[in-house]
Amino acid sequence: MATFSSIKRMADDPNLTCIPPSYVFQIEQAAVHLDDVEGGEETIPIIDYSLLTSGTREQRTKIIQDLRYACQEWGFFMVINHGVNEGLMKRMLKSCKEFFHLTEEEKMEFQDKHVLDPIRYGTSFNASVDDIFFWRDYLKVKVHPEFHSPDKPTGFRQVLEEYAKAVRVIVRGLLGGISESLDLDSDCIGRALDIESSLQILTANLYPPCPQPGLAMGFPPHSDHGLLTMLIHNGISGLQIQHRGKWVSVDGLPNAFLVNTGDHMEILSNGKYKSVLHRATVNNKATRISIATSNGPSPEAVVSPVHDLLENGCSPAGYIGMKYKDYLELQQSNKLDGKSCLDRVKV
Ligand code: OGA
Ligand code: NI
Repeated sequence: MATFSSIKRMADDPNLTCIPPSYVFQIEQAAVHLDDVEGGEETIPIIDYSLLTSGTREQRTKIIQDLRYACQEWGFFMVINHGVNEGLMKRMLKSCKEFFHLTEEEKMEFQDKHVLDPIRYGTSFNASVDDIFFWRDYLKVKVHPEFHSPDKPTGFRQVLEEYAKAVRVIVRGLLGGISESLDLDSDCIGRALDIESSLQILTANLYPPCPQPGLAMGFPPHSDHGLLTMLIHNGISGLQIQHRGKWVSVDGLPNAFLVNTGDHMEILSNGKYKSVLHRATVNNKATRISIATSNGPSPEAVVSPVHDLLENGCSPAGYIGMKYKDYLELQQSNKLDGKSCLDRVKV
């Protein structure tokens, strides 16, 4: 089957009017906008991070309740007042855009890498095994516990290092709150998963305009492997999450982080906080760029439901222990298929 080195290259062709058959998805169901649902009382949870770190006792208690609700009912929330400099977020998006605008020859250095290689550039998900290709190019970089970075474009490394560190700070804070929301000590999750050595991977996604957006998928339904994925984007909509069996479009507040729970949150919480299915659609007008930063346990941690949680009456364990690094390899080397990887560790 013909594959293209990048979607960008294919979409840059002004004569492209229809997509190759290998990009055609059966798209299950249109999404709803919560704003459009009449009488709908539900809104996407918003977490004011500043109240978690410097609010009054009552405010903190309220935010922990909000986190519990968000993780239990949605697996998704937006974080505002997070303290990450707006300029830094913009510079990160700009640097990723510049990376994708390097020549194909310049990007080739990072192409066709093993799934565990620290820097990978490519198209679709696993172009060598995918049956249907995603309308997406990506750059994936491991930024913690060891920091890696492509050395081009100019300045990329500095922005990446600063951004990744800022995201880790918020993730630690959120994990503390989430730990408490499970009636555990605030450092319980951090200790159990050796969060000091947390595996952090930044994925930049490029979704160029698509002449038949109703037929293609930027990123089909999947859950993420880590604990929390922190996403920002360039203001173009596309992200949808599954909520009570419906796809819900998430536009996001300006400068907020869009956060979703991953498979390792589900495992450690023994299924109390399920990882959320989400997908990215494409459009025929504008290029969308998103940056999804996955924050997981230490790559060496063998993750199973947190001991204290099982002791607190949340037993038996519904998931077997697996080394995070091995889980990651399993998920990344196969076709992406909803939550099928998680099924492999379910008891
Ligand atoms: C991802 C992802 C969604 C988006 O990178 O894992 O789900 O909106 N991205 O780009
Ligand atoms: Ni994802």
